Amino acid sequence: MPVRLGVNIDHVATIRQARGVHEPEPVAAALLAQSAGANGITVHLRADRRHIQDRDVKILKDVLAVPLNVECAATSEAMEAVIPIKPAWVTLVPETREELTTQGGLDVLFIHGHLRPIIRELHASEIRVSLFIDPHAEQVKMAAKLEVEAVEFNTGVYADVTPGSDPTPELSRLREASRLASKLGLKVLAGHGLNLQNVGPVAAIPEIEELNIGHAIIGRAILVGLDAAVREMSAAIAESIL
Ligand code: PXP
Repeated sequence: MPVRLGVNIDHVATIRQARGVHEPEPVAAALLAQSAGANGITVHLRADRRHIQDRDVKILKDVLAVPLNVECAATSEAMEAVIPIKPAWVTLVPETREELTTQGGLDVLFIHGHLRPIIRELHASEIRVSLFIDPHAEQVKMAAKLEVEAVEFNTGVYADVTPGSDPTPELSRLREASRLASKLGLKVLAGHGLNLQNVGPVAAIPEIEELNIGHAIIGRAILVGLDAAVREMSAAIAESIL
């Protein structure tokens, strides 16, 4: 099975919000990414609405043919905004206002009691749930106990290994956690900080079904166009598993 590519279009909205105008339109970007072969579109509806807005999510749900995955914090405010839109997936992520981007995975061991009713509410609306977690066995086991459909492993630590340092220990953690998650019946995704240079070894992990990639694709799109940037990333993923 080829690894699916979910394209995160948040930073198209970041550019729009920098001017408070209507362009560039993230919905147009999502449709372009979809026609370039993206298997899914991801957006992060942050509490501070610094990039993606509620109207973006609503329109995306109506116009996309591929599944829409909405990342958000595990809060009642986020649920009020997201559940009525009924995206195919919700990925629960940790969120703080100060961070530039998501820092680390959810500590599901610590907050499982808080997550349980939120997951139940999402399931009651027929929304599949993924938890963004670090690749640690205890986190995976708790995610399985919470009866979510998927986990997304945080590849941020792997991506931060400075060029020249050995990524093997972090890759081993990703491999072992992926094996365990799959054994426990969870769909396995991964993402954060992946780019054309570092995506290969992660895409080659057999249990990983989907990668969520944003910054590298949108950054590259500024130079070569979004169609080319999505196709390049799909090709890099496909090459890694040949
Ligand atoms: N997965 C999750 C849960 C994220 O929060 C993000 C960033 O929004 C990504 C994947 C994509 O990360 P990047 O933009 O570094 O590719």
